[in-house]
Amino acid sequence: MCGIVGYIGEQEAYPILIKGLHRLEYRGYDSAGVSLINPKGKLSVYKATGKVSALEEKCAAEDLSGTIGIAHTRWATHGEPNAVNAHPHLSGSGNLSLVHNGIIENYKSLRSMLEKKGMSFCSDTDTEVLVQLIEYTQQTYHCDVYTAVQRALKSVVGAYAIALLEKAHPDQLICARKGSPLVIGVGTDARGGKEFYVGSDATPIIEYTNQVVYLKDEEIALMDRKGGLEVVNLSNIKQTPEMHTLQLSLDELEKGGYPHFMLKEIWEQPNALRTCIRGRLQVKDKDVLLSGIQDHKEKFLNARRIIICACGTSWHSALIGKYFIEEAAQIPVEVEYASEFRYRNPVIYPDDVVIAVSQSGETADTLAAIQLAEQKGAFLYGICNVIGSSIARATHSGTYLHVGPEIGVASTKAFTGQVITLCLLGLAIAKEKHTLSDEMFHMLVEELQRIPDKMQWTLEHNKHIDQFAQMFTYCRNFLFLGRGYNYPLALEGALKLKEISYIHAEGYPAAEMKHGPIALVDEEMPVVFIAPKRGMYEKVVSNIQEIKSRKGKIISVVTEGDKTVRNMSDYTFVIPDTRDCFVPLLAVIPLQLLSYYVAVAKGRNVDQPRNLAKSVTVE
Ligand code: F6R
Repeated sequence: MCGIVGYIGEQEAYPILIKGLHRLEYRGYDSAGVSLINPKGKLSVYKATGKVSALEEKCAAEDLSGTIGIAHTRWATHGEPNAVNAHPHLSGSGNLSLVHNGIIENYKSLRSMLEKKGMSFCSDTDTEVLVQLIEYTQQTYHCDVYTAVQRALKSVVGAYAIALLEKAHPDQLICARKGSPLVIGVGTDARGGKEFYVGSDATPIIEYTNQVVYLKDEEIALMDRKGGLEVVNLSNIKQTPEMHTLQLSLDELEKGGYPHFMLKEIWEQPNALRTCIRGRLQVKDKDVLLSGIQDHKEKFLNARRIIICACGTSWHSALIGKYFIEEAAQIPVEVEYASEFRYRNPVIYPDDVVIAVSQSGETADTLAAIQLAEQKGAFLYGICNVIGSSIARATHSGTYLHVGPEIGVASTKAFTGQVITLCLLGLAIAKEKHTLSDEMFHMLVEELQRIPDKMQWTLEHNKHIDQFAQMFTYCRNFLFLGRGYNYPLALEGALKLKEISYIHAEGYPAAEMKHGPIALVDEEMPVVFIAPKRGMYEKVVSNIQEIKSRKGKIISVVTEGDKTVRNMSDYTFVIPDTRDCFVPLLAVIPLQLLSYYVAVAKGRNVDQPRNLAKSVTVE
């Protein structure tokens, strides 16, 4: 939530900052702002409500010179999304300019303390409180701003990633983090000197350098124009910044000819999954190798229970993972909403394995859930996509998805990457525990290997969804129904549709309809059935009959060649046959395409749906 960019070096800062904001726009797009110090030492701030493009329009006629600057794209938390509440925020004297991602929980008490000292505020934000607090600290202790930041942050409760400019010192840029992510890029300028980039993630940085430092919690960094990078913690103890080389290419961050990132990411899935299973699924040797498990085998073999914590789409993939791990590895698995788990007093045993599933690796609730589990002695395993993310670093071991950057706010390839990774994990444990017969294990390994090709087939055979998506734009409600492995998929189908088209949708286990929701069904209600010709086929057919006799419109996802359900349905999407446990990996494709094309037909902003942000770094 919220994206931060910063630059100090030899180049003009504004183009770098704006490009960076565009890359980070997926994190929030309620308002945007930029702050620069020009060569004459003037500090300016420009802000606009709405997208980064609105900010660019606003800035068009302004003096945008300067080789140091910070910028922000906002997902509103405190204060409505207007230009006053947009970042950067200035201190009372106008000497400091600050951008912030996170939430200062004790901002009210800090604000009233500062008001009592005579300070006044223009906005409703916690960020303005923070910048005023830093200035107040600087004035009170007669210290430099670097020291003032350290002191001020000590009295802050909450999460922050900040970048700060000081008009009086146009040769230095300061940033700090706790809870919210921050990356520093270290580049080389035209004269061979060092220049520094700051980003909420590496996407605004990769164009200029692949050398980065991931700032750690409670660290403060000072970058100066002479090439110095100093990092201290809140107690002013010097830290050694650890340099990492980014494994990210610029192409992965572009739309590559697709109208939206979401469509690109839907089509990328076969290849993304090939990368995800490469080297891990060893069909010849009939083996599954996950180094994260190999290194901690005993933890999994002796696990009393696995608890998976996640949010949103990742929670849905976790539920599919539960079904698979229980079936294959015979370990009880609980799936928890991280936001609930963290505030309960859950029973956690030292022989529990707690798995965090998170695309971004930054979701605040998921991070807090595993921190709680760690305090209670559990072994932590992370399944993340973003390399070097907070959750990846906070866990004892884990597996990266390797599906490439996911930019569209609605998760697609990360979902299938998570499902297949959880299947790999279930198989790896099953192999060690001998809970599957050799024959079954080999069959599952071989079938999993075929999934990317079958996924490609599914994409090709469902391209036409765009031609009839228009018909559903009038709908106000949708139901998605499935049983077994397809129940979590029904939840995912409903979430995809509502988040990008704003049509209300619910997912249910198909058999639960009779216990209430069927009362909603009439001729205006489209009901999507995931009805592969597998395990519970006959039962699902009965469920379809029940809806049909109440005049609901039936949209079905069926196995290629199935005529029975096709004949009962108003619209049908086909998938190739596969094992029950892998059906979600294929059946999700038409559901993603349906949501995408309905949203496009309704004129929605598919990649940046209203009120949402990609990375939920606030609770
Ligand atoms: C929906 C979606 C969200 C995320 C959720 C968790 O399409 O993307 O529901 O799945 O915010 O995010 P991560 O996986 O980054 O923890």
